[in-house]
Amino acid sequence: MTNQAPERNRQDAAQPSAPAETRPSKTERNSRISGFYNLDRTERLNLLRDRGFLDEESYEYLSETDSGLGFETADKMIENAIGTFELPMGLGLNFTVNGRDYVVPMAIEEPSVVAAVSHTAKIVRGAGGFESKCKSSLMIGQIQVLECEDLDEARTSVLEERQRIIHMANELHPKMVERGGGAKDLEVRVLENSGGNDMLVVHLLVDVCDAMGANLVNTMAEGVAPFIEELTGGRVSLRILSNLADRRLVHSQCKIPFDRLDWKGFPGEEVARGIAEASEFAELDPYRAATHNKGVMNGISSVCIASGNDWRALEAGAHAYCCQDGQYRPMATWHLEEDEDGQGYLVGQLTIPVQLGTVGGPTKLHPTVKVAHRILDIDSAAQLGEVMGAVGLAQNLAALKALATEGIQSGHMSLHARSVAATAGATDEEMDELVERLIETEDIKVRTAQKILAEMRS
Ligand code: MEV
Repeated sequence: MTNQAPERNRQDAAQPSAPAETRPSKTERNSRISGFYNLDRTERLNLLRDRGFLDEESYEYLSETDSGLGFETADKMIENAIGTFELPMGLGLNFTVNGRDYVVPMAIEEPSVVAAVSHTAKIVRGAGGFESKCKSSLMIGQIQVLECEDLDEARTSVLEERQRIIHMANELHPKMVERGGGAKDLEVRVLENSGGNDMLVVHLLVDVCDAMGANLVNTMAEGVAPFIEELTGGRVSLRILSNLADRRLVHSQCKIPFDRLDWKGFPGEEVARGIAEASEFAELDPYRAATHNKGVMNGISSVCIASGNDWRALEAGAHAYCCQDGQYRPMATWHLEEDEDGQGYLVGQLTIPVQLGTVGGPTKLHPTVKVAHRILDIDSAAQLGEVMGAVGLAQNLAALKALATEGIQSGHMSLHARSVAATAGATDEEMDELVERLIETEDIKVRTAQKILAEMRS
């Protein structure tokens, strides 16, 4: 790393801001930004504004040093509030998803994640970008029915009244129905229990459109429960959504020619083979799959947090989805392909449930979340899921690429050293030398950094 920004971006950033009407529209924006990390905060914000990623209001907000949630809002959000909790928000750069460019807000404490994802997003954009699709926004509401005398009869009674139950659920949320959503269908499952306590589980399938949907689905599940009790003659207990949102999946993919994967002296074909082997390892071994998926979630959860979504729900659903055939499996997989001209490709695919909202909750309350949405400039929760799927795949690619070649420690080490050097009080001018000397000592601690800094200064 150098402290000198590439001339072109420094010039861009130093220019007085272009008039709003001449800034690129969302389909014309260019997310390919080199040397962003070398710019100072104002230069970064200027550049984003001129590229059309930041509107005036968001620019002003991010320029304020004390911007954030604020105690008053926090106090309205949860009980017993005593403060707020901050995380860095960075931008995943260089993304092209379904032919459109994005810079992606990510809230995360771990160094390397944002840099790594921007690096692989750049590789994939050079290969045509990510293709991502969220086909449906159906969530499942579960109603647990116990003590049915005859489970088959109870099941039949519920299925016969399918339309009435759906209608009853929709009367509880007419606005969602007006938007084209609402309860759409119903399924009944019988769960056999060796302890003899067999149960019936009714699934209400609800199209939640751009909401995450928990409140809506829970209200509907509670609302139809008394009628289900009447129909089955059983006793209804739990009425709650399922976070295994397997009707709300995102499928993301990318296809990269080997030569785009050449890296630090490793030939692209070798890198691609190493990544495919790493993918097989995760397919075969849950111990590896867990770490592989942690890497995917580094990207997905940080976008989830920045966009004000319930990352616990998304994570629970994604991990549960990986176990559907009884073994815990990778969320993203990679294989090799060859075209008729003998050109080799690395092909990546990711499928996970994405229970996300772009309306309601923190998207209305949290000022930084609002700005993150403006930067993303998406039209729907499905589109947010499509971007997130691409981020997950890019993050996984970054981890596997490093792991299958030089290992992850060298990249981590320099970022860690940089943050230790900053804590030790290094100025911009001192930074590069201090980081280099700190890495050489193999003792990357603040005390060591302070000692070297004192030597440098004397
Ligand atoms: C570290 O945060 C994530 C990785 O362990 C993911 C992986 O091993 O694939 C590098």
